[in-house]
Amino acid sequence: MYETRVLSGMRPTGSLHLGHYHGVLKNWVRLQAEYTCLFFAADWHALTTDYENPGELQKNTWDMVIDWPAAGVDPGQSIMFIQSQVIEHAELHLLLSMMTPLGWLERVPTYKDQQEKLADRDLATYGFLGYPLLQSADILIYRARYVPVGEDQVPHVEFTRELARRFNHLYGREPGYEEKAKAAVKKMGTKKARLLNELRTKFLQEGDAQALSKAQALLDEQQNLPRGDRERLYGWLEGGGKKILVEPEVLLTEAPKLPGLDGQKMSKSYGNTISLREDPESVAKKIRTMPTDPARVKRSDPGNPEKCPVWELHKVYSGEERKKWVWQGCTTAGIGCLECKQPVIEAIQAELAPMRERAQAYVDDPTLVKNIVADGCDKAKRLAAETMRDVREAMGLSYT
Ligand code: TRP
Ligand code: SF4
Repeated sequence: MYETRVLSGMRPTGSLHLGHYHGVLKNWVRLQAEYTCLFFAADWHALTTDYENPGELQKNTWDMVIDWPAAGVDPGQSIMFIQSQVIEHAELHLLLSMMTPLGWLERVPTYKDQQEKLADRDLATYGFLGYPLLQSADILIYRARYVPVGEDQVPHVEFTRELARRFNHLYGREPGYEEKAKAAVKKMGTKKARLLNELRTKFLQEGDAQALSKAQALLDEQQNLPRGDRERLYGWLEGGGKKILVEPEVLLTEAPKLPGLDGQKMSKSYGNTISLREDPESVAKKIRTMPTDPARVKRSDPGNPEKCPVWELHKVYSGEERKKWVWQGCTTAGIGCLECKQPVIEAIQAELAPMRERAQAYVDDPTLVKNIVADGCDKAKRLAAETMRDVREAMGLSYT
């Protein structure tokens, strides 16, 4: 019904590392070529678990956001912004809270999981219970069709879908809906109106999904039809009411294949990361001192790549030929571990060099990234305002 939008957010964790790059950012860069993408720093979400320590929040946000364009997220293609600077999210969160059953929130699996995991924090707050609701507002306010996230976020997107359905069900049925829908069809002209009716019948009576897509495409073309009418008709096609909010879908991000320096998942809290702005000496040193297959004590001991985290890096950075060279050399003690690590060091240096350079430009002149974000906030606000106008109207709050 609208241009296909993709939305994702990241809690501000400070500057990013290679795990973020291979797990998330590369995916964002790929998506931005195909869709209208919105990416934002979820600083309010950070406060839901860390409300006692707001001290580092801003610095962490800027450090993180600098790394997005540095890693190739293109401000000309994607909208980058900060959640708290688009306060419309808060209004939608509030309005959705009116119709959100408490039980739904209590049953989101992350609620109890996180409380157990983060037992040292006070998570007995409304803000923490409302975490998924705030996330729903983030998504629904842009009528995002796709939400690229990892496995752990799937319940939140599922929750968002249910909420959108509930909202449309509650507020999409205005008085005289059927009559208004029929009048809207007439405005399309006899021929198109007949076609639309036929396609709708095909879908509703025979479940023909292709007919539905054709009908939706037909509506997409009706730029002259007033917005309210088009919204009504999108819902009417599927036999329901007005579709004010769009049900989003997860675009599952695969778990990053890139391990940390110790073979565990790369994560700041494990201290096993290579940051996107790591200087070349430090990259070389970190890889050189990485543990390898513990069975290779002496240079003459053959090893097993499957037991070595360096092999996992080769899987990401090396082609078939080099992987063969590693496998051969390792299992026959034909190469030493330092020799084996050298091409990985070089590949990571080559990957990081342009990112580090771009990030440095933003560090040297912070107004560059501030401008990108200010522009992103403006654009996001404009899109958010459109949805809020419809939401206020549907909930009886448009006083003008
Ligand atoms: N909860 C997400 C995370 O921790 C961050 C987030 C907030 C988000 N709002 C969002 C992700 C909206 C996608 C869409 O990773
Ligand atoms: Fe690991 Fe390479 Fe050493 Fe084998 S040769 S143990 S794969 S670093």
